[in-house]
Amino acid sequence: MGLFVKKPMSILMQEASGEGENSLKRSLTALNLTALGIGAIIGAGIFVLTGTAAATHAGPAIVISFIFAGLGCAFAGLCYAEFASMIPIAGSAYTYGYATLGEFFAWIIGWDLILEYLFAASTVAVGWSGYFSRIMNDLGFPIPAALANAPYRVEGTHDLIRTGAIVNLPAVVLVLALTALLVIGIKESARFNNAIVAVKLVIVLLVIGFGFMFVNQANWHPFIPAIEAVKDAAGVDTGVTKFGWPGIFAGAGVIFFAYIGFDAVSTAAQEAKNPKRDLPIGILASLAICTVLYILMALVMTGLTPFRNLAVPDPVYVALDAAGPGLAWLKYLTTIGAIAGLASVVLVMLMGQPRIFYAMSRDGLLPPMFGKVHPKFKTPYLATIVTGIVAAAVAGAFPIGLLGELVSIGTLLAFVIVCAGILVLRYAQPELHRPFRTPFVPFVPIGGVLVCGWLMYNLPRDTWLRLIVWMAIGLAIYFLYGRTHSKLQKTQG
Ligand code: ALA
Repeated sequence: MGLFVKKPMSILMQEASGEGENSLKRSLTALNLTALGIGAIIGAGIFVLTGTAAATHAGPAIVISFIFAGLGCAFAGLCYAEFASMIPIAGSAYTYGYATLGEFFAWIIGWDLILEYLFAASTVAVGWSGYFSRIMNDLGFPIPAALANAPYRVEGTHDLIRTGAIVNLPAVVLVLALTALLVIGIKESARFNNAIVAVKLVIVLLVIGFGFMFVNQANWHPFIPAIEAVKDAAGVDTGVTKFGWPGIFAGAGVIFFAYIGFDAVSTAAQEAKNPKRDLPIGILASLAICTVLYILMALVMTGLTPFRNLAVPDPVYVALDAAGPGLAWLKYLTTIGAIAGLASVVLVMLMGQPRIFYAMSRDGLLPPMFGKVHPKFKTPYLATIVTGIVAAAVAGAFPIGLLGELVSIGTLLAFVIVCAGILVLRYAQPELHRPFRTPFVPFVPIGGVLVCGWLMYNLPRDTWLRLIVWMAIGLAIYFLYGRTHSKLQKTQG
């Protein structure tokens, strides 16, 4: 059988409606799914990265970066919505790839999605650890630096150097605790998530509402700062520039991370009560709500203080601080919101990853243990535990910058393939029933490929190299294991 064998839609439909010992429990509503999306989206991107991106890339025009990255995500979201309504299976983009582009691409996407889900859980856990350590410090229970920082950092662009720290313990503990919750149940996890999402939304709305009252419009001028040369420590020109339109695009590449997560909704397909209707609602509603909130939040942050002050780990706090005593009460609430908010991102990412492993294992591309469902809790518990242990190890060892860029490039690659897949399937199998149809085909999927491809192009060369190495490891595993164990190859071979 060829590398490009496709999984027939008829088999996928059967699996989507299948019942049995290894099937998951259907309990999520449209509201739960939207909350899952928001839970995964609002996190380190808006609470941490926006400030650095405004200060070092785009200035107040970071608002335009948000609109541009949001456009790419809207295109990708519309394509995800069509696939999710048509093939409501836990594997998300991996399964869509299997149906449209064949097994080889499906494996590539599945392996790539580990960069999005598992590594995003680790990345945001590291961000969480930063906020958590600060609050513990303020409360008089400081965590020793050696136990709250990564033992490695990146020197220059790619050398990993030991920092002297032992492990980022808070990040490890958070990941392991949320893993335990996910083993116990999807419904319990969704309830926990709903509560956190409510807290996080209220706080973001308070920052926007009260923040606008204190905005000093002079901070928005010039809205697009003139291009400046970036100099090194000795004051020598590095040949790199910041601000202007190039800065807006570079900023878009950085804050793209803030949007990641709406697609995680599709991994809960087999636990949704009415997936064909509710998955598109969950994906598109969560993305639309967060896009509006991000644009307003970026306006408020750059309006409260000159943008150059925002290059800090807690830019929302710093922006509110600049407003003076009038907003002091909100600063502390925001820190609590960030701690709760980042935890929910980690939760949803840790939920998505095992469900992709589950789908890959059911196809024989991963060992059967990843497809095992707990007899009582009805969750893919072994895959969840493996995900948790690996994510905890990664979170304990590596710095946030290295992880964040890897997550962005991996996710963008998945988005590009999903958009291309919608185009392919519209021409290859136009007759399929599509409960949700992506509008304006071919413009929307082509737009998605172009915008996401452009954002990838703007990421650093070393991030590209890491992606290539990761993919090479994946290919080796596919040829050593997946190809010979694939159920589809066996039945059709
Ligand atoms: N969008 C998520 C965040 O910003 C991954 O934390």
